[in-house]
Amino acid sequence: MEHTEVMKPETLHDLIKVLHKIFESDNINVEEVQNIMEAYDSNRKEWEKFAKFDPYRYTRNLVDEGNGKFNLIILCWGEGHGSSIHDHTNSHCFMKVLQGKLKETQFEWPDKKTHGEMVQKSERILEENRCAYINDSLGLHRVENPSHAEQSVSLHLYSPPFETCQTFDQRTGHKNTVQMTFWSKFGQSTPRETKVSQENN
Ligand code: SIN
Repeated sequence: MEHTEVMKPETLHDLIKVLHKIFESDNINVEEVQNIMEAYDSNRKEWEKFAKFDPYRYTRNLVDEGNGKFNLIILCWGEGHGSSIHDHTNSHCFMKVLQGKLKETQFEWPDKKTHGEMVQKSERILEENRCAYINDSLGLHRVENPSHAEQSVSLHLYSPPFETCQTFDQRTGHKNTVQMTFWSKFGQSTPRETKVSQENN
């Protein structure tokens, strides 16, 4: 197996620089990206300008557009906030916890014929600084802040970037295509959109 040496990014700015370099290539080594993202020690001062919360749902805040190769997004999860079960539109999804904890529940793709309860594959709690990875061939997931007392914040990298995804009803497996929206871009709030979005589900 190829050995990948991990350079420790000292700051968020450093991490973004390294990610730009890695994604110049079209052949992405998932383990390398996961290790680099995990190696960055979360420092609130470096990312707080992107961390904008809403009282009712989690928010998606664009940090960097990765020269068109990836989107780097900070997600802010209020107490008990969670996503619906969703896919990743054939993209890579890396998810690093910057503050607090996140619960990730993975599901099998639903069986188109049976329309029954979706099958859960796994469930885990991700601690601060951990970085998880998923893509459509591994399955679907739901992400939640399991705490009812503390907020959590995470850093997500999607490559290639995508604007819509599919969400799934856990009881029937029925799916819906939804728009991914940004609460803010580069630290500036975006005009509110009224479309059905993943964070509203
Ligand atoms: C995820 O898939 O990592 C979280 C959901 C989102 O990007 O809105």
